[in-house]
Amino acid sequence: MSNTMDNLQAAFAGESQANRRYLFFADKAVKEGQPGIARLFRATAEAETIHARNHLEVMGEIGSTADNLEAAIAGENYEFSEMYPGFIEQAKSEGNKRAETSFVFANKVEQIHHGLFQKTLQTLKAGQKIKDEPYFVCQVCGYTVAGVAPDRCPVCGAPRGKFMSV
Ligand SMILES: [Fe+2]
Ligand SMILES: [Fe+2]
Repeated sequence: MSNTMDNLQAAFAGESQANRRYLFFADKAVKEGQPGIARLFRATAEAETIHARNHLEVMGEIGSTADNLEAAIAGENYEFSEMYPGFIEQAKSEGNKRAETSFVFANKVEQIHHGLFQKTLQTLKAGQKIKDEPYFVCQVCGYTVAGVAPDRCPVCGAPRGKFMSV
């Protein structure tokens, strides 16, 4: 029997996934010349975000920024040290090259995220000011870097033009 906390976790996962899925579906609808359908997907994605946030808030999982950095560090660490290595091995053994590449990109980038979050938490704990600088995200592999975009992505080799500024 599941309890309400388990149900909140499951609902948060489902709503979060629906949000991303609908945004990708919206992009596809735009490409197919269906702006009205794209808008429906985007509006619904926005509503799923509200559901996800409500569930997460009820679980008490949005803490102070220092707590949230700790949670992010733990999550990224789990992904690159436990989750993705096993997934990569499995994809290799099944000969699924596309899945392997997708997992390898994510695995490498989660390590970078882990480092960025750790460094930021240390700075915060030291009472130093955290610079509000631009971040650049590779639109192929997700590689994330502060300050300036590199000429080539060190993870996937994509050119500078593939970086999106946040
Ligand atoms: Fe990450
Ligand atoms: Fe990349």
